[in-house]
Amino acid sequence: MQMYDYLIVGAGLFGCVFAHEATKKGKKCLVIDKRDHVGGNVYCENVDGINVHKYGAHIFHTNDKYIWDYVNQFAEFNNYVNSPVSISKGKLYNLPFNMNTFYQLWGTKTPEEAKTIIEGQIKEHGRKNPENLEEQALSLIGKDVYETLIKEYTEKQWGKKATELPAFIIKRLPVRYTFNNNYFNDAYQGIPKGGYNKIIDGLLEGIDVKTNVDFFEEKETYTTLAKKIVYTGKIDEFYNYEYGNLEYRSLRFENSRLDTDNFQGNAVVNYNDADVPYTRIIEHKHFEFGKQEHTVITKEYSEQWTPEKEAYYPINNDENQKKYQAYKTLASKESNIIFGGRLAEYKYYDMHQIIASALQKVKKELN
Ligand code: FDA
Repeated sequence: MQMYDYLIVGAGLFGCVFAHEATKKGKKCLVIDKRDHVGGNVYCENVDGINVHKYGAHIFHTNDKYIWDYVNQFAEFNNYVNSPVSISKGKLYNLPFNMNTFYQLWGTKTPEEAKTIIEGQIKEHGRKNPENLEEQALSLIGKDVYETLIKEYTEKQWGKKATELPAFIIKRLPVRYTFNNNYFNDAYQGIPKGGYNKIIDGLLEGIDVKTNVDFFEEKETYTTLAKKIVYTGKIDEFYNYEYGNLEYRSLRFENSRLDTDNFQGNAVVNYNDADVPYTRIIEHKHFEFGKQEHTVITKEYSEQWTPEKEAYYPINNDENQKKYQAYKTLASKESNIIFGGRLAEYKYYDMHQIIASALQKVKKELN
């Protein structure tokens, strides 16, 4: 019996925004998720009063006033500004690359001094047509920044030598000749007070939701419940891996609760060196200026993906893109299924982009 207009598979941001907007237009939605919670990858787990970003650090940022106002309907945001630091060979550097970083590297005090060094190094080590990530980075930023802050971190992230990675992974390397440690250039930035769950709960208010339901295990039952399906899971899984697996890079998170009120003085600290197995440590309380007497930290390890592991970052090489295009062609022939979100589109999206994409798709569907 079709009790619902839409069955929404996946309670991540895409599914929740779609469900919220469709409900506002008088449609009846059922949202299911195979996890035991809603929110997808923005979900926060409360550990002893600290909101732990369970699937990796999430900082909201956007230049789009409309999207900023949209999320602010559901939660007030604090004025957190992402200013990560990186530890390399025992020394600490500010990110993104800016006048503070250049001072720490070379002792330069003016933009002109720093520019002269960077441009000189690009001239010496850069290539006209970089053929791999190393050549690309040397051509964009020079030798010292690359070797101190990029090379080993990137190799840990991708599990490959920089010379074996394609140049396109690094399209640009933002360089700032000002003393500004704000990682993002966007006009709006912050963390929702009370965590991302507040936004998700607001989006799902009054909507039927079932967790611990894997669509593929109860496909017949759930498909008959709704006129249309909004699918936000993996597109290759939807088509039973007909053209093979789409590959991802995975992450492993190791959490510790510590009896100290301040472990590292910053929410995000990167570890550049190859002999440190993790890429960064997140201290979650600093996202919300927490005053607790204890803290929770997460060591983030970059890992090879296998189908049993969480899929985090799509690997956008030619082979995967070819497979994705084949799946996309199948999807375009479906009349009652809407595909959306990072897994169904095999694409990395930031949160503000996924919200914009869901709003666009729901508008197209219901206007
Ligand atoms: P999401 O993965 O959140 O939701 C999909 C849901 O579908 C999941 O809950 C899943 O369980 C469910 N599902 C899948 N298959 C199913 C099935 N068969 N049956 C039922 N349910 C099923 N962005 C940003 O703006 N700032 C940031 O700082 C970060 N940081 C960040 C860190 C890391 C490590 C990653 C990987 C990503 C980020 N992001 C980010 C991006 C952000 O996480 C992303 O934009 C959204 O989570 C995407 O929302 P979706 O709804 O598309 O997917």
